[in-house]
Amino acid sequence: MLVQTPPMGWNSWNTFGDRINEKVAMEMADAMVELGYKDAGYQYIVLDDCWSLPERGEDGRIVANPEKFPHGMKYVADYVHSKGLKFGMYSCSGVRTCCGLPSSFGHEYLDAQMFADFGVDFLKYDYCNFPETAKCRLAYLTMAQALRATGRDILFSACNWGCEDSWEWMRSIGAHMYRSTGDINDTFQSMAGIVQSQLFNHVSPSETNYNANAAGCFNDTDMLTVGMYGNGNVANNAVKQTYREYETQFAYWCASGTPLMMGCDIRNVDDECRKLLQNKELLAINQDPECRPLLRLCNDKNHPTFMRELSNNEFVLFCANFIDGTRHTHFYFPDMGIPTNCGCKIDMTNVITGEHLGAFADTCQFEVPEHGCLVLRCKFVK
Ligand code: GAL
Repeated sequence: MLVQTPPMGWNSWNTFGDRINEKVAMEMADAMVELGYKDAGYQYIVLDDCWSLPERGEDGRIVANPEKFPHGMKYVADYVHSKGLKFGMYSCSGVRTCCGLPSSFGHEYLDAQMFADFGVDFLKYDYCNFPETAKCRLAYLTMAQALRATGRDILFSACNWGCEDSWEWMRSIGAHMYRSTGDINDTFQSMAGIVQSQLFNHVSPSETNYNANAAGCFNDTDMLTVGMYGNGNVANNAVKQTYREYETQFAYWCASGTPLMMGCDIRNVDDECRKLLQNKELLAINQDPECRPLLRLCNDKNHPTFMRELSNNEFVLFCANFIDGTRHTHFYFPDMGIPTNCGCKIDMTNVITGEHLGAFADTCQFEVPEHGCLVLRCKFVK
């Protein structure tokens, strides 16, 4: 299977936007190895929009921008591979990419073969400039099949922002991850809005967008902004997030089992955020081999609360506090299928602090700081 657990990597868009080039890609690959990200499990270096010239070449193929990529894309792919990493690129299902460059509508099989010839291992496939009369599902199916037809293993990262209730069908057309949100930016409000949209499905408010999240295909809530601190393409210098806000973001992505595509400049990220992005306990929860979807425990959008079953009979509890002031969170064990007369206690460890909290029965209560979160690894004890 191409993706057994949520994909992990780095994508150029959040920090670099259109300012990508081969030097950026190669330095990110170096940083991935030298700064410990590869050892932590991150694998993909993905170049987003803006890698090509404005028009296709005479042979119909998209042409890499020679100023940005003087040695061509295969050269970059080979370098990334030489570091033991995988290489990702970008195209779009419409007639032009979001930045107005050549896109794959009507060229799916040609472009898929071009990406395979470059040595691409991952294709992000966007949804801008999509013809009114065209069919979204068919367009994504066509590219998924075109990638398969190349015979190369290429992870298909479908990015139609959740349009046409994509969480219901992206798994069936062969996607390996699917964006079900609009674009994130580097603010706490943007991140919180994304979380709320995922936990409260707009079509069926009692559902979440995670029911199809499982090995083989994962719900994607966009690239992380952890560590950007107001710098880069999707940031606004006037608004800087705090470390605690980044911790909440990363903890949510991990606890919910979402792909982890870093968006900061991993060459320069501060030590605190680098350690967060490489936190072994949070990553182990993200990569749990059972890959189960989360189960929402509360209807309060400002205090997203859920559990997620893990392997080895364990489970994780998550709660965040999106509003000002401290929140006192109660967990009532019957909500988690653990009635008062069950004869068990629940042993809990605070994943972020590493503190062993002891064994609880019936209920437990914790303080969650403003814009902070709580991640508890839980197991049954008799
Ligand atoms: C958006 C997409 C972003 C980024 C951008 C590039 O549609 O959601 O993640 O890829 O296009 O233009």
